[in-house]
Amino acid sequence: MKRIVILSGAGMSAESGISTFRDSNGLWQNHRIEEVASPEAWQKNPAMVLEFYNQRRKQLFEVEPNEGHKALAKLESAYHVQIITQNVDDLHERAGSTQVIHLHGELKKARSTVDPNLIYTLNHWELKLGDTCEKGSQLRPHIVWFGEAVPFMDKAVSIAKTADIFMVVGTSMVVYPAAGLIHYVPRNIPKYYIDPKAFHVHGIENMQVIQQKAGNALPKLVNDLLKDL
Ligand code: APR
Repeated sequence: MKRIVILSGAGMSAESGISTFRDSNGLWQNHRIEEVASPEAWQKNPAMVLEFYNQRRKQLFEVEPNEGHKALAKLESAYHVQIITQNVDDLHERAGSTQVIHLHGELKKARSTVDPNLIYTLNHWELKLGDTCEKGSQLRPHIVWFGEAVPFMDKAVSIAKTADIFMVVGTSMVVYPAAGLIHYVPRNIPKYYIDPKAFHVHGIENMQVIQQKAGNALPKLVNDLLKDL
């Protein structure tokens, strides 16, 4: 089976109703996203940080996967598909994709502030000050914040190197190291960049730039890829 590797970002879930980061100026209640999603913000104002993620988590319990997510899940009938997402939602999984790496963490999980190996799945939206891990320490969102290491990056790089086809969907390609993943992909394989603001990435060959929404472009592209076999 050929291997398709997909890097997805916030635009992937836009048509499900989850707003992207930078399309709306990246502001949340007048804070820059970096000021909410950082270890410094957590030190300074944990209640505000918890509230930011509580609102996003609450919304996640109300939205559904869109046509783009569903199309990618269909690819598994004929390809080995690995999704590497910057998104913290679970919409790829809910659409049926089985191999999903979350580079920036997962909204529906919380983890201990003393032991990063203690990770808990939340089945409710609210994480509060005073919610603790089994060692008695405050729980934090299981999110990779600005300035923190991206634990799955090495794994993502190894996977990118093995791709026969590579897709980038719904990401502004400005946040590193995720945006650098494309530079590890084999030079000559077909690549697609689907995003209304997609652009030719400097130094990348064989890339088709598709300036469309994921929900429009992916069902068609997936059909073509399934037909081409
Ligand atoms: N279909 C496809 N792409 C879309 C759609 C759509 N329907 N709607 C918007 N987009 C595109 C925008 O054109 C933009 O290029 O989605 C992209 C969203 O970019 P960002 O908001 O910068 O999101 P992303 O690239 O995922 O951000 C990376 O930054 O704040 C951090 O950790 C956060 O994972 C996030 C990271």
